[in-house]
Amino acid sequence: MTALARIAGSAKALGQSAKHAVFIPVVRRPDFDFPADLPKYWWDNDPAKTLLLAALSASFPAGERFFIDSVRHYQDQITDPELQKAIRGFIGQEAHHSKEHKLLNGYLEERGIGLGRLDREIQGFMDWMRKNLSPERQLAHTVAVEHFTALLAEEFLLKYDPLDQMDPRMAPIWAWHAIEESEHKAVAFDVYKAIGGSEFVRVTEMMAVSVLFPVFSGIHLVQLMKEAGELGNVKSWVQGVNYMFGKPGVFRKLLPAYFKYYSPNFHPWNHDATPLVEKAKKKWLGDWA
Ligand SMILES: [Fe+2]
Ligand SMILES: [Fe+2]
Repeated sequence: MTALARIAGSAKALGQSAKHAVFIPVVRRPDFDFPADLPKYWWDNDPAKTLLLAALSASFPAGERFFIDSVRHYQDQITDPELQKAIRGFIGQEAHHSKEHKLLNGYLEERGIGLGRLDREIQGFMDWMRKNLSPERQLAHTVAVEHFTALLAEEFLLKYDPLDQMDPRMAPIWAWHAIEESEHKAVAFDVYKAIGGSEFVRVTEMMAVSVLFPVFSGIHLVQLMKEAGELGNVKSWVQGVNYMFGKPGVFRKLLPAYFKYYSPNFHPWNHDATPLVEKAKKKWLGDWA
């Protein structure tokens, strides 16, 4: 049974406009180990691909704390008990992502990948948003980034072959994170709808995120490539750009799903990736799925 059918079966409407019931995310508590003999470039032996994911990992601890706080701000206003449970699942999952990626970032830092500075830069940006954006816009920011992370999880990490191309000791943390991003993709959105968040703010915040996310990621990738002495590695750049935008063109192919966000009828569960998630759970999480 797909998640869509499952949640529809136990449907508890969130409001008049909601078409989907709440999916309660399960909080897992993994404890990843990163052995000393992992290759420096653990995704496909490629600097650009590896450092792009390292740059993303650097943004998770500060970013996910921000997501948690933006949802928590409205937690008391939520009267639906199912959505309350889902919020607790969302907070638990994101808190564990934050913790495990902090450990991963420390491990990568020890191996000469300068993620500490990136983390401080991102923390500075999050502090700026906390100070200058309304709570509604902060939540809209979370809703927008959650759409990005769900797309990256479902339409990239779980759909194509990056996990198989990674060192098998590094793949499980990315599989676990991708699976849980898919599981909790609708929580911030459902909270936003439940508190009567405006469509204008939701859509304009996505526009801002759509500029900031690739620009920050691109700048951070260039910085890390430079620090690693790989800035002039044309082969790695060409391979990376081809993988993302040429063949298979994973980023290019997720554009249709990205644009669905702008529809007034958008809901994260309109796109059900349960078969991919279930397959990945069996393959990468094993007993603790
Ligand atoms: Fe996460
Ligand atoms: Fe998330």
